[in-house]
Amino acid sequence: MSFPPGFRWGVSTSSYQVEGAASADGRRPSIWDTFCAEPDRITDGSSGSVACDHYHRYREDVALMAGLGVDAYRFSVAWPRVQPYGSGAANPPGLAFYDQLVDELLGHGIDPVATLYHWDLPQRLQDAGGWADRDTAYRFAEYADLVAAVLGDRVKLWITLNEPAIHTFYGHGVGMHAPGETRLADTLPIAHHQLLGHGLAVAALRARSSSPVTIANNYSPVRVLGGTDADRAAGAAYDTLHNRLYSDPLFGLGYPEGIEPPVRSGDLDVIAAPLDGLGVNYYMPIGITAPSDVDSLFPYDMAIVDGYPLTEFGWPVVPEALTELLLDLHQRYAVPLYVTESGCCYEQSPEDPLRVAYLSAHVDAVATAVAKGADVRGYFVWSLLDNFEWSEGFSKRFGLVHVDFATQARTPKSSYFWYRDLIAGTR
Ligand code: BGC
Repeated sequence: MSFPPGFRWGVSTSSYQVEGAASADGRRPSIWDTFCAEPDRITDGSSGSVACDHYHRYREDVALMAGLGVDAYRFSVAWPRVQPYGSGAANPPGLAFYDQLVDELLGHGIDPVATLYHWDLPQRLQDAGGWADRDTAYRFAEYADLVAAVLGDRVKLWITLNEPAIHTFYGHGVGMHAPGETRLADTLPIAHHQLLGHGLAVAALRARSSSPVTIANNYSPVRVLGGTDADRAAGAAYDTLHNRLYSDPLFGLGYPEGIEPPVRSGDLDVIAAPLDGLGVNYYMPIGITAPSDVDSLFPYDMAIVDGYPLTEFGWPVVPEALTELLLDLHQRYAVPLYVTESGCCYEQSPEDPLRVAYLSAHVDAVATAVAKGADVRGYFVWSLLDNFEWSEGFSKRFGLVHVDFATQARTPKSSYFWYRDLIAGTR
């Protein structure tokens, strides 16, 4: 296995999933606090109000990263800490947390990689219309400016948004995520305003920081399961709506044909602000057939592809689809790629051979893509810690490190030691 010089090994987390301290130092609710407080939203009735208490234990967590020998840590900044109500002046104690985290990382030789938005919109902005309102894109750029003003000299890689496709579909289409909206037929404004916010934020970041800027998108390579033309058309529709809608406009290709969000003059240029790379979050390919229900709002039916082992989330383990994806993205967009999330859900702990096998196969898949010419610059495991897995609460574990949520004790799993040795072996 060989990786290019400067390749970064990392781990990822996100603010609401690990920080806890939901009302510390002036933080106000995000849409996830609101969503978790509603009945029956979260499988185990939990919330991220304490989560891994990373807000108070970040030094211990950075020490765990240092023990791994990672080059980089991808965390997200909680907008409601920085601007508790989503607009106006910065809340200094909220920013101070990230200021200290970044210094702690740098003190251990770990590059801070900051995502500005991993789904925790300040509730006040949701009350004003959320991402359905164009104004939220401008609020996002102001927030980006406030973050960059403080961290711009030390963050080594910026990620504007995490997975706008998932946020749009699960949060605003089918209501499985916050804010719990079910407006499937009307999600294009949500998509467009996030992308517009991304483009405006790129400009804000560039004004304050010379570090590279990217976005982290979720991709699911399509496996058409039926043999009919209708099945193939359904596969193409999924590919358009999930894989291309949030990427093509970033690279100047505009929205895919037939997709018509509320674009104003100049928006596409803002969205296509040059990027220094593309973050790739990959979990699995998706099986697609033509919709079985003629009244379906979806132009496709989704299924788990057969013939592969499943993780405890029921997701198939298909590392070769990661190779295929990286090569496709390399060809289509010709930018440096970062695997910003790769990981799996297994309960096993502290011995977790299934996670070791999963990660090892996916690292190999990246190496294969590199050998075939893809320009991949980093690989980030999701996740450092077991954490708050959105609508699944604490019932699904993705960590290299086990967290006992009753005591907050951290216990490295065998996958942690495997990753440490892998990284050391590539030096
Ligand atoms: C998200 C993470 C999440 C992971 C596993 C990704 O889509 O960015 O926040 O925990 O998937 O479900």
